[in-house]
Amino acid sequence: QRPGHVSVVIVGGTGDLAKKYLWQGFFQLYVNQVSSGNTFSFYGGGLSLADSGTPVLFEILKAVSCQNKVSAERCALLKEQFLRLSQYRQLKTLEDYQDLANHIEKQLQEEGMKEAGRLFYLSVPAFAYADIADKINNSCRPTSGAWLRVVLEKPFGHDLRSAQILSSQLAISLKDEEMYRIDHYLGKQVVANILPFRIENKKFLDPIWNKHHIERVEIVLKETLDVRGRIPFYDQYGVIRDVLQNHLTEVMALLTMRLPLKLSSNKEVLQNKLKVFSSILPLGKNQAVIGQYQSYKAEVQQEQNKTKDHNSLTPTYAAVLMHIDEAQYEGVPILLISGKMLDERVGYARILFKNDAFCLANHKAIHCKPKQIIFHFGHGTLQYPAILVSKNLFKPVLLNSEWKEVMEHTDVNVVGLPMSDYYVHTPTEQHDTYTELISHIFAGRSNSFISTENLLASWEIWTPLLSSLATTFPRIYPGGADNGDLLDIRLKGREVSYNSEVVIISPDQVGS
Ligand code: BG6
Repeated sequence: QRPGHVSVVIVGGTGDLAKKYLWQGFFQLYVNQVSSGNTFSFYGGGLSLADSGTPVLFEILKAVSCQNKVSAERCALLKEQFLRLSQYRQLKTLEDYQDLANHIEKQLQEEGMKEAGRLFYLSVPAFAYADIADKINNSCRPTSGAWLRVVLEKPFGHDLRSAQILSSQLAISLKDEEMYRIDHYLGKQVVANILPFRIENKKFLDPIWNKHHIERVEIVLKETLDVRGRIPFYDQYGVIRDVLQNHLTEVMALLTMRLPLKLSSNKEVLQNKLKVFSSILPLGKNQAVIGQYQSYKAEVQQEQNKTKDHNSLTPTYAAVLMHIDEAQYEGVPILLISGKMLDERVGYARILFKNDAFCLANHKAIHCKPKQIIFHFGHGTLQYPAILVSKNLFKPVLLNSEWKEVMEHTDVNVVGLPMSDYYVHTPTEQHDTYTELISHIFAGRSNSFISTENLLASWEIWTPLLSSLATTFPRIYPGGADNGDLLDIRLKGREVSYNSEVVIISPDQVGS
């Protein structure tokens, strides 16, 4: 993109997300771009008047921090410049947006710069999106030749129908390529590197990435916290809408899609992903186990001040079994599992390979430990993002200089194997997810975001299951350390079979 002036507007600029992640991400963008030839201005938009919004914004901005390698002196200078380029603006009415547009025009004239683009980050509830998009479209579009990018946070609807309605409302004001729908999992370093890893290690993976060798795929996000503080949202959505329909489905697609010839081809990557979505066999009720932690109902009652018994059927736990209708993956179980108030906090995708496909009878003792690849998202046993390949599988190629091999192995088990049984690769520097996504938005890398087609295709998979579960009572689980069988499905088995209620696993043979 041509260098020029970039205006960044965070609508909801003093809200929680902006305070926690967004300003830090934009500061980092500014630091990375400071000698690029681009110039910047940053606007925190909100409903308050400038007099009361300004001090709140500046308190937030003062808290941004530099990466370790930047000296204290340089950091202070960069922060001072960043603060000077930032201002609070009331963004409520169409006139407010017009004023902002006039201000930007004036700024461009004063600087004598061309405009590179305008980035609007809508950090506001989804019901406000259509109205804000309309105001941007009517009065705040950039000058010709410059880009417009509007960033949106989930939830993007509640089911296929509501997602279609929201998408068509937005389509009145914005082109598809102007919308950047965030799925923060796509900003996680390990998730963003699933495709590069598969491409780099193609010669090892091609022969084994199929039904003859893959035992099953698991995509797991286990959390230990409850949902207190978010109940009005959560009780409407539940775990399937909250994380399976988006984060875990995206990871599933990255693991199973056909590799693009060119990673940089946004179109090809999207097409290949959509092909996976359309090949998922319809999800029936008997392919899901849903649960609710015991104290959930009491929490809902307490937070919503309900006097009557609240009989929420909202699942806080779900395990869903998928299959892909393609010869390559025929019969391969793909399990998506997530829940709140579980025994551990961990997130990973695991490809478990069949032992028999590799083991010669007389080699069993040495070679027949589980063979697996783990994409470890970054919390859990290891506490850092990593890609792990069991040593008896192959030695993976290091992705690039931004990744390193971990040589010192702590005494922990990572998803069933001691760490020393893996080749472990981790990023040399850990990047915050939002900082990563903001740099992708700036670079226009639309593959790291959810296009309308992608969104609707995913809702198409999940909506029939959600409807069929709408009146199903979730199994109650105790929460915390003692979670019962419900949560053991990932650990127990080799074969996954199921009936209408429970996922039944045959006795564990893994590692035997
Ligand atoms: C969010 C969900 O999208 O993802 C939360 O709304 C969930 O309920 C979170 O806790 C998990 O993300 P992470 O990055 O902590 O794994």
